[in-house]
Amino acid sequence: MINQLTKPEIQEFIKDHLYDEPSSLMLKANHYPDWPMKLIVEQIQAKRKAKTKLPSWFKTRGLIYPPVLSMEQCSSENTARYKMSLINAGLQMIDLTGGFGVDFAFLSEKFSKAHYVERQAELVEHAKYNFNLLGLTGFEAHHGQSEEFLTSQDNFDLIYLDPARRDDHNEKVVRLEDCEPNVISLLPKLLSKAKQVMLKTSPLLDIKGAIQQLGSVAKVHVIAVANEVKELVFLLDNNSERTPQIHCINLKGNNKEVFDFTFDAEERATSSFNEVQAYLYEPNASILKAGAFKTIGNAFGLKKLEVNTHLYTSSDLIEGFPGRTFRVLDKISLNKKVLKHHFPEMKANITVRNFPMTVAQIRKKSGLKEGGDQYLFGATDQSGKQLILCEKIDARQDQ
Ligand SMILES: C[S@@+](CC[C@H](N)C(=O)[O-])C[C@H]1O[C@@H](n2cnc3c(N)ncnc32)[C@H](O)[C@@H]1O
Repeated sequence: MINQLTKPEIQEFIKDHLYDEPSSLMLKANHYPDWPMKLIVEQIQAKRKAKTKLPSWFKTRGLIYPPVLSMEQCSSENTARYKMSLINAGLQMIDLTGGFGVDFAFLSEKFSKAHYVERQAELVEHAKYNFNLLGLTGFEAHHGQSEEFLTSQDNFDLIYLDPARRDDHNEKVVRLEDCEPNVISLLPKLLSKAKQVMLKTSPLLDIKGAIQQLGSVAKVHVIAVANEVKELVFLLDNNSERTPQIHCINLKGNNKEVFDFTFDAEERATSSFNEVQAYLYEPNASILKAGAFKTIGNAFGLKKLEVNTHLYTSSDLIEGFPGRTFRVLDKISLNKKVLKHHFPEMKANITVRNFPMTVAQIRKKSGLKEGGDQYLFGATDQSGKQLILCEKIDARQDQ
């Protein structure tokens, strides 16, 4: 298949028809009877996905893209770069779940020798071809089961795994023991072969449960991109007796928000509470996922609205909060006259936290459409249920 897809005329066709509808491209198939048009259309669809997910790969001419599932499962360029930044340079690494090879391509830059292992033969062929085009050196791509590659004599500075999260029926799975390969059963072997093991998991995995199950966790990185948690990354080594550091990261373009804590510190902390004051703070999604509900407020000297409302408040503006910061304008009701007065265009960005109505119910009852510059928080504070009207302090925060 590589031989056909890499032909210059087919690559030219892909470039010229990148934004055409798949159905209209299929209609062209009879003009090119010798071409594998279905595969070409799949390449076009995958390449379009790469434009935002893998911008520097998108710019590399001639790369072969994998089927949609591998394209969905692969890491994005910005999370792969972030993971690369966590690793010290070393002699030898192995990625036991190579896939499309995004993580491998970035992590391998830090090592003199890097092994890519993948059980799907076609992905291995593509990876070899693409790594050469991308200018990677010092790599070896192996076709086979990851378990086999742990029986060799070699030791590694890093073993990386991003286990497949689909079961036999192609349904998504989350638990570590349901993913392939099963890291729980491989772990003793992994730790005997490597100074450090890096494991990427589903963002839905329970972090505390995974730390308990895995045992030797030194650090956990909860990685969000534009306020959506994309990956959990566990760093493991043989020195297991300690409290893991939890790093909450929100990547935003060229910037990032960072907040570090430990579950021990979170357990020991106590929050102070207040009804909403002049400023309102909403932690980013990585902090909420990690559950740093008390430590985040205390680190910034903020009061929490209520024990189960993960929103924070202050009377003076506190700069540098890792999340969104708002100026509180008013507490309002859903009365039609009040709404017309505050939202002449009947538009608002609505969020609920610990509130008896959903966003959809508030929209239905109020008639407020999505959008505009105003923000409405449905939340419970020290005085009960509130609808808090706010404006965002720095509109660039979301970028
Ligand atoms: C989530 S993908 C990895 C994506 C990769 N990190 C990337 O950035 O492109 C998981 C891959 O692991 C492979 N895999 C699962 N179990 C394996 C095993 N026991 N041995 C080798 N490869 C395996 C799957 O075929 C799949 O391609």
